[in-house]
Amino acid sequence: MTQTSHPTSLGGTVNFARYSVARVGYGAMQLRNSSGDREAAIALVKRAIALGVNHIDTAEFYGDGFVNHVLRDALRGEPDVVVVTKIGADPNPGQESPIRFAQRPEELRASVERNLKSLGLEQIPLVNLRRADIGPHIAKGDQLVDIEDQIATMVALREEGKIATIGLSAVSLDIVRRASSAGIACVQNAYSLVDREFEDVFRFCAETNLAWVPFFPLGGAVRGMPKVTEQPEVIAVADRLGATPSQVGLAWLLKQSENTLLILGTSSVAHLEENCAAGSVTLDEDAMRELDAIKVGQGAIC
Ligand SMILES: NC(=O)c1ccc[n+]([C@@H]2O[C@H](COP(=O)([O-])OP(=O)(O)OC[C@H]3O[C@@H](n4cnc5c(N)ncnc54)[C@H](OP(=O)(O)O)[C@@H]3O)[C@@H](O)[C@H]2O)c1
Repeated sequence: MTQTSHPTSLGGTVNFARYSVARVGYGAMQLRNSSGDREAAIALVKRAIALGVNHIDTAEFYGDGFVNHVLRDALRGEPDVVVVTKIGADPNPGQESPIRFAQRPEELRASVERNLKSLGLEQIPLVNLRRADIGPHIAKGDQLVDIEDQIATMVALREEGKIATIGLSAVSLDIVRRASSAGIACVQNAYSLVDREFEDVFRFCAETNLAWVPFFPLGGAVRGMPKVTEQPEVIAVADRLGATPSQVGLAWLLKQSENTLLILGTSSVAHLEENCAAGSVTLDEDAMRELDAIKVGQGAIC
């Protein structure tokens, strides 16, 4: 993966699937919290674009289509923004859990159709197949589907032109290897300064030049999960460098490999602006040593 030009604060630009994107992108999941203020959600996405973000991660099941509809409206007239969605789960309105697994091939196909509609696209630039075979929420019964059957459906959708490229999410190294002959554009797994469970998958991606898109880059928003910004080592490094804890956590991720692309999750414009400056933070050797020494846990995946 070759790194080309600016914007520097966004970590430069890399080739991602068929596209060229800033290394700092935006993960839109937190916008589901803004369903009471649609205009504010649209304004936040537009601010991200104005800052140079041109890679946005979403899912139909974020707020039962709300987030996709916000993106459709915010990105009108922005053909160069690469929208990435994920399938493998669907909205489950009116039920105890707002999301249900949808792993079967016919469900994957139906999810792509729904995403096309809600995003207002004729083709989705990249679709991640979000697997459900690693914890803590594991699919059971007919929702446990072989990766080969799912990939065959994804390839068919690509041949039909409904999706341009295929990615994987929440996957083990074994699944990445089994799917790779289909031509995989990226892997999106949980990974951060406080969660390095998928170090083997990260290393494989770095060695094979496959885009690595860590989700929960700051440890996620789920209560009870460790937060990057609360680690004493992160706070100490931030104070010393005149940066903020979130910028330090994100700069550490950018430094892990050239093929790491961030999808920052926030519903706050102030946090968005702060986080989008992470590429300008230079972590020296001392800082890296301190950060690398942080004790990490096994992350949860939601
Ligand atoms: N493939 C998958 O299964 C999967 C799973 C989860 C997420 N994702 C994707 O990954 C993206 C990122 O994950 P995420 O949003 O869950 O987690 P995250 O980016 O690690 O953390 C988001 C949390 O950090 C807070 N935050 C953001 N900037 C901050 C700052 N500067 N200072 C202090 N707190 C800050 C946010 O609060 P505020 O809103 O108040 O800023 C929010 O509570 C998601 O948006 C989604 O697109 C994918």
